Amino acid sequence: MTSVACGIDIGGSGIKGARVDLDTGEFIGDRIRIVTPQPSTPQAVAEVCKQVLDGLGISDNVPVGIALPAPIVHGKVPFMANLDESWVGVDLNELMQDRLGRSVTALNDADAAGMAEVAFGAAKGVKGTVIVTTLGTGIGSAIIVDGNLVPNTELGHLEIDGYDAEKRASSGQKELQDLSWKKWAKRLQRYYSHVEMLFSPDLFVVGGGVSKKHEKFLPRLTLKTPIVPAQLLNTAGIVGAAYQAARRQSE
Ligand code: BGC
Repeated sequence: MTSVACGIDIGGSGIKGARVDLDTGEFIGDRIRIVTPQPSTPQAVAEVCKQVLDGLGISDNVPVGIALPAPIVHGKVPFMANLDESWVGVDLNELMQDRLGRSVTALNDADAAGMAEVAFGAAKGVKGTVIVTTLGTGIGSAIIVDGNLVPNTELGHLEIDGYDAEKRASSGQKELQDLSWKKWAKRLQRYYSHVEMLFSPDLFVVGGGVSKKHEKFLPRLTLKTPIVPAQLLNTAGIVGAAYQAARRQSE
């Protein structure tokens, strides 16, 4: 496997990219961040991806992985919760081929973050079932069994007590509804207990920007499963996308 790849993480507020050293899981040089265009249509976002690649000076032989906040099933986006609706039905690889003139590896953002934790972070070497969740505008999930990803799990959209789970328990909702750590932790407790009951995982890893403040909420949770903060924090999406792109290229 090549030891350098590029990752781009498309989010609701920013589109971030960097060159990644796949021996260490660290960035090589600076990360580029460009504000997500509004409306966040596929064309507008693809244009920003081009700016990111140009800005980083990525040549054609470097694998590029792109993480999107939506499931990507055989290359296509079946639904979109937190970017423009016009993403539905888009084939990400075709879109990027048109705009960037090169092929890319497209994957879900939480799947990317999950694989980054497996390769370089909190889930490294863990046997059995690991569930990585990212708490942000939405809730992303990655299920990894003995190091192998089960893609597109979308556990942020479990319906719990009549609600789409991420509309209750994401960190975006904590902000929007101005919830205290205590109130939010109650919602997280409900969420993680439910996921625990369904999957009996061996480990939960909690990522997303808010995991920097894990000591404010993780100690409030009572679960049978160990629950730990992600180690890569806000680099995980980029690192995981780069890692998966490099793996794909070496297949
Ligand atoms: C999307 C997921 C995504 C998560 C985190 C959810 O709303 O449906 O695909 O992983 O948000 O961005």
